[in-house]
Amino acid sequence: MAELPWPSPPLADEVVALRPWRGADVPVKLAAFHDPVFQRFSDWAPLDEASVREHQVQLEAARRRGEQIDFAVVDADDAVLGGASLYGFVEGRAGVGYWLAPAARGRGAATHAVRLLARWAFGELGVARLELTCGPDNHASQRVAERCGFRREGLLRSHLPFKGGRRDTVLYSLLPTG
Ligand SMILES: CC(C)(COP(=O)(O)OP(=O)(O)OC[C@H]1O[C@@H](n2cnc3c(N)ncnc32)[C@H](O)[C@@H]1OP(=O)(O)O)[C@@H](O)C(=O)NCCC(=O)NCCS
Repeated sequence: MAELPWPSPPLADEVVALRPWRGADVPVKLAAFHDPVFQRFSDWAPLDEASVREHQVQLEAARRRGEQIDFAVVDADDAVLGGASLYGFVEGRAGVGYWLAPAARGRGAATHAVRLLARWAFGELGVARLELTCGPDNHASQRVAERCGFRREGLLRSHLPFKGGRRDTVLYSLLPTG
């Protein structure tokens, strides 16, 4: 697939802006990956500085291959609040993912970032169906999905390898029409 372009102009609203990750963001990203809530809902995270740096290189290579595009979610002062991505581009579908550093939660940053990504994916990338998946016990993430207008479609049983076992997944979707 063709390289995924960086949005031009960059995606931004009155609460957040989305920009490429930079080397200088590694320490804040690393700290966020150690957060217990992040750890609880993630099956894997690079937990030392070298692996975070290597991961950023891999993400950029994945963008060039058209597989995934990862953004830093920042505030008006360019402070990193979290991350948001589009991934799994196939047959007009894509997935959306996000996380926030603990101090950035509770102010709508994830909701704003997902709304911006959805509008861009439908309007500029030609995505026809956006999927959002999360653990059945990840209620904060499910609220983000619902605030952004995603429709809950069901429970995918035993969907993913997770922490040595398997995990069900709640599946949400959003279409250009809602
Ligand atoms: C999932 C996660 C990003 C949700 O964070 P969050 O802060 O609850 O989400 P938002 O940034 O959308 O903020 C929503 C909160 O801000 C409030 N808020 C304030 N202003 C708002 C605005 N303008 N728009 C939307 N919400 C706003 C909402 O009321 C809401 O609080 P509530 O849930 O108590 O009602 C966060 O819990 C996280 O990083 N978890 C770990 C990683 C993870 O699980 N990622 C998802 C994997 S599927």
